[in-house]
Amino acid sequence: MRNDLIIGLDIGSSFVRAVAGRQNASGKLEIIASGKANTIGNILQGEIVNIHKTTAAIAEALKKISGALEGKNTDYYFASNLSGSHINVQPYSSTKIRKNPREAVSLQEVYALIDEAKKPIAEKNPCILHTLPIGFKVDNLPTTLDPVGQIGQKIQADFMVVTANPDKYGLLVQCLVAAESDHIKKGNVYFSPIAASTAVLSPEEKEEGVVLVDIGSGTTEISVYQNKRLVQASILNWGGDRLTEDIRIGLNVSLENAEALKTTFGSAVSKLIDINEVVMIPGIAGRKPTPISVKNLAIILEERLKELAAKIVAEISKVGEPQTFKSGIVLCGGGAQLPDIAELFQKVTDLECRIGVPMVVQNSHASEEIHDPSFATAIGLVQVYYEQLDQAIPAEDHEPATIGDSQKESGKGGNDKPGIKNIFSRVVDVLMGSNEAEGEY
Ligand SMILES: Nc1ncnc2c1ncn2[C@@H]1O[C@H](COP(=O)(O)OP(=O)(O)OP(=O)(O)O)[C@@H](O)[C@H]1O
Ligand SMILES: [Mg+2]
Repeated sequence: MRNDLIIGLDIGSSFVRAVAGRQNASGKLEIIASGKANTIGNILQGEIVNIHKTTAAIAEALKKISGALEGKNTDYYFASNLSGSHINVQPYSSTKIRKNPREAVSLQEVYALIDEAKKPIAEKNPCILHTLPIGFKVDNLPTTLDPVGQIGQKIQADFMVVTANPDKYGLLVQCLVAAESDHIKKGNVYFSPIAASTAVLSPEEKEEGVVLVDIGSGTTEISVYQNKRLVQASILNWGGDRLTEDIRIGLNVSLENAEALKTTFGSAVSKLIDINEVVMIPGIAGRKPTPISVKNLAIILEERLKELAAKIVAEISKVGEPQTFKSGIVLCGGGAQLPDIAELFQKVTDLECRIGVPMVVQNSHASEEIHDPSFATAIGLVQVYYEQLDQAIPAEDHEPATIGDSQKESGKGGNDKPGIKNIFSRVVDVLMGSNEAEGEY
């Protein structure tokens, strides 16, 4: 059992969501506090466009949970996320002739290979968020996630490399550092789907093949997993807001009414709606109320979501035959709350589809809404951090996607946790495999 609380900070286009969580006595993740603050207009399509207001929203969300944090002399660490279409996820392969072919492959050798693989990527873009191993191949031996101990002349490593636009990453860091308080400081940044997938996908689903679709307000993140690994990811710069906009135009209503219609009366399957079902929208300044057909509302939503379903199939097809992804599609994010959305995706894609709700224990300070697909990323951030701690190895000279000390305290944090911060980029790589053998890394 681990006692330290970790804070997950999901910075989204509609809300900053903050949760504080820890493992309870039975090893389950317990969320002891949650809070959110609005970011609408200040983060567009996952990218920060107003530094001051985003910083204020982060600070507000943190304030909402800070009352539940015990021990004012304790420093709390946070994990935050980065999203937006500037993020690039690409496969990368590196081969090396081994110096001593008769000696077993060592852990250090594997790390050196990962470091070497990063160099040419870093020359083009130094902002590498993650280097996620897909597999290692020593001579003609089968590809493995754990080559340590194998013998051979040549070793090949395949990775997924996640890079971000350095300026956009810098803006996030700037906001996080500005919003840090005396007790909540020092954090790590993860590619959003890494967090959400940890909260809502099971290891079995990741092994069998699954696609996670996080429908936010300004983005939709599609990430594909196979053999426990992230094998494909892309971020669309539209999400639930596009649906609202379609309703606004299609039904000639205000944006506010379009959002209310979507979230209160929307459905993704129009044939389930009676043709006579009508909602009255109050008229402005004494004008007559306007009748809105609920079936038309559903038709608009269904058409746009069919487009998304086609994109999902296209993403899966980049890495394999869709039908071989036996665990199908899992939906999360606020957009996954639309009634009948799983049925629609299942019908259009012919893949099984379910809604991904984080499975956590809720403490009395946390709100009911943590059991909601829109909390997948915030909760997953806490989980990712914990999994890394569980797999922590002695620190070496790795530069992680870590913020806090370097920007703020010149690396001399008073209450630092030795061996934790400096290993993150490496351990998150290992973590993505969730392979027992990899725990040894
Ligand atoms: N019941 C509902 N039915 C349909 N859509 C909903 C419902 N509830 C919320 N949404 C939509 O979910 C979206 C917000 O999702 P979420 O909170 O996951 O976004 P975000 O994480 O802030 O943004 P992003 O991930 O795009 O940066 C909005 O478009 C909102 O309209
Ligand atoms: Mg989101």
